[in-house]
Amino acid sequence: MLKIKKTDFAPKPKIRAGFGTLFGANRGTKFTEVLFECVNDCLGLTREEFDVRWRKWRPEDKIHTVRPWVQPTSDALKEKWLETRDPDWLYKHPEYIWDSLACSVYRSTGATLGAYNILYKHGFTNPKYIFDWGAGAGLTSLLLAKNFPKAEVHFSEINEDLIAMFHWFKKRSGLTNIHHVTEPVRDDYDLVQALEIIEHIEWDRRKKVGDPITETLKLLDHTSNDSMFILCSDFKAELKWTALGHFISYWVNGKEWPYTHMQKPIEEELDRHGWKFLEKGFDGIPRIFAKQSE
Ligand SMILES: C[S@@+](CC[C@H](N)C(=O)[O-])C[C@H]1O[C@@H](n2cnc3c(N)ncnc32)[C@H](O)[C@@H]1O
Repeated sequence: MLKIKKTDFAPKPKIRAGFGTLFGANRGTKFTEVLFECVNDCLGLTREEFDVRWRKWRPEDKIHTVRPWVQPTSDALKEKWLETRDPDWLYKHPEYIWDSLACSVYRSTGATLGAYNILYKHGFTNPKYIFDWGAGAGLTSLLLAKNFPKAEVHFSEINEDLIAMFHWFKKRSGLTNIHHVTEPVRDDYDLVQALEIIEHIEWDRRKKVGDPITETLKLLDHTSNDSMFILCSDFKAELKWTALGHFISYWVNGKEWPYTHMQKPIEEELDRHGWKFLEKGFDGIPRIFAKQSE
């Protein structure tokens, strides 16, 4: 017998505004011009300075990447990062921003739109307060603000240059339902997004070891009942390409885990704290968790 699921009656998922609509340019040459305008205004970079920091991949490049545009100056930080695994050095380094930006352009903006479709499918169409943690230049936060026009979006980030760029993109978008915050300022967020951030948090008891869950659970304490959590983290990224800011082991639930085996312990911890896995997007990106009402 055909089983009718509750979600069959839910509004049809659709991306209302994608990357091109919001930024007036798709992810290639046109967006590169927007990005140049932004860093020229915010950081005073000249055309020549920009062109060596964000340029098309060439066959002779030794850089291992799937991105059509490469970021040679942030890739050059890889060796020292692997040696030190020191977040204080990395996130303050003037060349770090290019890695964060490329992550947003080529991976996380797609993850946000995928999450939007899943949430919509489950009838979650009207969040009121959204928190986007470690959100780079805020491209993913702006997509949420655009697609949930009745919501207020809070963007958070620690790198000053990326924060300046967020303000530039915000102004250009004309969106007013989005603000920069340094920490959660409400206790009733109904949507939290953590894209490529939890694997960047160092354990406060031992250098070079990550702690992906303590800060996450603290942040999730600021949510109301029936809220949703969008999570995306590629812990194995170092195996595939240049990934800055990751650790080789992580402390979760009283045990040190290798970076290759993180999904299970993290999801078990989320589950133990009342966050049930709901659905994942294409290729597992992103993963959506729903808070169980008490
Ligand atoms: C890989 S990038 C991801 C950016 C964005 N979430 C995305 O997915 O496009 C990681 C970001 O986290 C920021 N970050 C690192 N540690 C942080 C912390 N403790 N609090 C907030 N942001 C942090 C970095 O500056 C960087 O922009």
